[in-house]
Amino acid sequence: MTGTVRPIGAIAADSGRLTALIERFAALSEPGRGPGVTRLAYSPLERAAHAVFAEEMTALGIRVWTDAAGNTIAERPGTDPTLPAIGIGSHLDSVPNAGTFDGILGVAAAMETARQLTEREIVHRHPVRFVVFAAEEGARFAQACTGSLLAAGLIGSADLDHQVDPDGITLTEAMSAVGLDPGGVESARWSASNWAAFVELHIEQGPTLESLGRRLGVVDTVSGSTRVRLDLRGRAAHTGASPMRLRADALAAAAEIVLLVESVAHQTAELGTRATVGKLTVAPNSMTTIAGEVSLCVDVRELDGDRQQRVAAEIVERAGGVCARRGIAMRAETLAEALPVALSPSVREVLATACRSLDIEPVVLPSGASHDAQQVSHVTPTGMIFIPSRDGISHDPAEWSSAEDIALGATALATAVLHLDTALD
Ligand code: GLV
Ligand code: MN
Ligand code: MN
Repeated sequence: MTGTVRPIGAIAADSGRLTALIERFAALSEPGRGPGVTRLAYSPLERAAHAVFAEEMTALGIRVWTDAAGNTIAERPGTDPTLPAIGIGSHLDSVPNAGTFDGILGVAAAMETARQLTEREIVHRHPVRFVVFAAEEGARFAQACTGSLLAAGLIGSADLDHQVDPDGITLTEAMSAVGLDPGGVESARWSASNWAAFVELHIEQGPTLESLGRRLGVVDTVSGSTRVRLDLRGRAAHTGASPMRLRADALAAAAEIVLLVESVAHQTAELGTRATVGKLTVAPNSMTTIAGEVSLCVDVRELDGDRQQRVAAEIVERAGGVCARRGIAMRAETLAEALPVALSPSVREVLATACRSLDIEPVVLPSGASHDAQQVSHVTPTGMIFIPSRDGISHDPAEWSSAEDIALGATALATAVLHLDTALD
C-alpha cells in the first residue's frame, strides 16, 4: 500500500437518516416471535431487507445486483476503470429475538456512504462496492457466514445439502424457496483481482470499548468458532416408578456436560476460550418422563485455532466419559467450523488514520464474534471498525449503540473509503 493520504473534505454521516434506516429494517421481523427482531437467514424477510437496500441504491442511480448466493451488491464506478473495487458492507439477517444493530449498522452505514458520495459528487479512483451478505448468522443453520463463505470460495454448492435447519430444510432448499440459485453459487465467487480491499463496520457486541470509555475500535483478529452437536440417548421412563439407581437420564448427563463445557473454557484468561451450550433439545420434554434423548449444541470460540480445535476435542472426549459413566449413548457431530483470522495490518493502519482524522484514536482489539469480513479476508485485504455496544450486549433485544456513535462509525467508514482510495494502488 503506497501513496500519501490526500486531505478529505468533511464527510459527516446523517444521524437522523441512519436511525430511520435502522428502524425501517427493524420493522421487518417475524410477527408473534416474541421480543426483538427475528429475520432469519434465507427467509422471505431477509430477502425483503435486501430489497430495501437494492431499492435505495437504485434510487441513488447506483447499479445493483444479487448473486446466486443471495448477496446483494451495488457499485459506484471510479474514475479509473482498470482499478479493483473497495468494498464495504455487512449483513441483514438476524438471530432469533435479536437487537436492531448487528449487521444492520454496517449496511446502513454503507448506504449512507453511497448517499454521501453521490450527493456530494465525490470522485474516487476505485469503484466502490456496497455489499449485503446473505445468511451471516449461524442460527437457523449452524454454519455462519454462508453468503461470504460462498463469495470467498471457501464452500460451494456441494456443501449446501449438509446444513439443515430445525424443520429439516436444507440450505439448498431454503435458498431455492426464496428464488436463489443454490446450484449456481460458484458464480458468486469473488476473484481477488476484482477487489482492492474490504471494510466492515460493526457494533463490538462485547464490553471492551465501553469499559475503556472509547468510541472507535479497529480489529486485528477475528475469533474462530467450532460448533458441535452432541446427541445423547438414555432411557425414557416414568419419573415416579423408576428408582434412581435404575435410570439412564439423558438430561442429567446433559446438565453435567453443560457445566463441563463452562469449566473447560474457564481454563484460559481474558477473551481466551469461550465455550457455550446455548441450545438444548429434550425429548419427550415432559414433566413426568425421564428424558430419553437430549441434543446439545456446543459453540467454542477462540483467537487461537489450535486451541479452538483442542478444546472442542476435549469437550467431546470428556462428554463421552460423562455419558459412559451414566449408561448413556453419545454421538458427536461437528456442524460447522471456522478458524480465526488475522485481518490486514495495512488496511487497519488506513482505518486508524481515518479515525485519527476525526480526532479519535481507535483501540486495536480482537473480535469475539464471527463476521463476513473474516471470510472475505481470504480474498482481499480486509479490515473492521467497531463502535461500542452498551453493556457489551448483543444477540438480544437489549443490544444498543448510541445515535452519536452510529453516526461517528458511519463517518469513519466513509472517510476510510476515501483514505483507502488514495492509499491503495
Ligand atoms: C455472529 O453473529 C456470531 O455468531 O458470531
Ligand atoms: Mn453481525
Ligand atoms: Mn450476529
